[in-house]
Amino acid sequence: MRRIGILTAGGDTPALNATIHGAVVRANALKIEVYGIIKGFSGMLNPRVPHVHLNPLFSTIPELNPCAGGSILGASRTYIHADDTATVQEVAGRLHSLGIEGLICIGGDGTINGMQPLSQCFPTVLAPKTIDNDLGLNYAEEATEWLREPAQSGKFLYRKLPGRPDVELEEMINYATPGYATAVYVAAASGIQRIRTTAESHRRIAIIEVMGRDSGYIALGSAYGQPDIILIPEVPVNYPRLESRVRELYELQKHVVMVVGEGVVDERGHSLGAISKSTDPAGNVIFSGAAEHLKQMLAKSIGDEYFVGKRRNESADSAIFTRKLGHTQRGGRPILFDRFHAAQLGGKAVEILVEGFNNCIVTLQWTAGRGFFVDSITANKLRDQWGIIHPRRMHHSLYDAHRFQPSKLGIEYLLPIFTNAIGADDLEEVRMQQFNPGNLTRRYQSVNVDMQKRMRYL
Ligand code: F6P
Repeated sequence: MRRIGILTAGGDTPALNATIHGAVVRANALKIEVYGIIKGFSGMLNPRVPHVHLNPLFSTIPELNPCAGGSILGASRTYIHADDTATVQEVAGRLHSLGIEGLICIGGDGTINGMQPLSQCFPTVLAPKTIDNDLGLNYAEEATEWLREPAQSGKFLYRKLPGRPDVELEEMINYATPGYATAVYVAAASGIQRIRTTAESHRRIAIIEVMGRDSGYIALGSAYGQPDIILIPEVPVNYPRLESRVRELYELQKHVVMVVGEGVVDERGHSLGAISKSTDPAGNVIFSGAAEHLKQMLAKSIGDEYFVGKRRNESADSAIFTRKLGHTQRGGRPILFDRFHAAQLGGKAVEILVEGFNNCIVTLQWTAGRGFFVDSITANKLRDQWGIIHPRRMHHSLYDAHRFQPSKLGIEYLLPIFTNAIGADDLEEVRMQQFNPGNLTRRYQSVNVDMQKRMRYL
């Protein structure tokens, strides 16, 4: 193999450049040229395929910094539809014209579904990324534990069967995805811990909404910030119990800090956050405010008198506040855990392409004996009986629904990822860069400007 392509698709994560870097470093050693396709799949849909040569003379371009968040290649949520064979052929033809012999897509479940049709005409490999940590399986058979029912729209609705009551952590396929650890770091450190002290002084109830779509991993990991209550999408909110826990905590400590995964549902399975029925280009529901919805419910059921009675002199509306952490979880410098494993996965993706694998995913595995290591599986292992890859949902045994906290197994799950997740250099970077006087006089230099200068077209 002399030349490969690489692209970043779907929502970005802080570790994308680290994955690209790992792939390019491995390719340099194997004397393989790497072309970065600009803006994910949409770059290949453009007949001129904007691209950048990432390793001229087999040395990595200086713009590719594994410590920088985002993606120097840009990302988009545009995908190729499996039944659009004409487009698939066109894209494959363009890649052939560029002399590209294999493609690495860095992405999540949406990317792998979009990569599938292309793998029919072209060797493709997926290097995982997603802050949601939802690419993978809790155990191998889980892929086929789905029911399919016809929906009114003429499409299908997929419903997850209950599955196994317990899981072994060592059985997990893809233990953690690059981007997840940094998102948790932001949620726990910048989000919860900072909001805690202000809620504490003002005697308020803070509801902090974290990302993750229908998977509660970020919410679970936010336990490191010691929130009083964690609500995850996998376990429907039992409202009466939640309200009574909030009252109990408020009585005790005069404030409450609650973390809500954006995809939380009520006991009828209705999403609390999906107030707007809109979807993004990939068809995902846009979550617009689970925290806000819960605030309205609490304000109504606890009522103004309660807070006035506590000599708060404030209405329920102002005593309860919400904070959506949003895209801060997706941006900025990746922490050590993400950088290191993202780079390993990028390197492994190059290796398996060279070995002749197609339609495969590189994975990050963990066992107590070996710690973390990279491996690979065929993408079909993640597909249900109809060929669909569903986002992994956190196994409910990782959560203690009674205490609204991680269970013992949940804690065991988090420890290997986070115990040494932050590097000394991550902290030193804050010390040196945050109040660098130069920041006051120099404009931000966007890598997009430099990449534009390197851009080539078919
Ligand atoms: O899938 C990653 C993710 O960050 C989700 O956690 C979140 O719901 C969504 O993307 C936000 O997407 P966008 O960047 O398109 O607003």
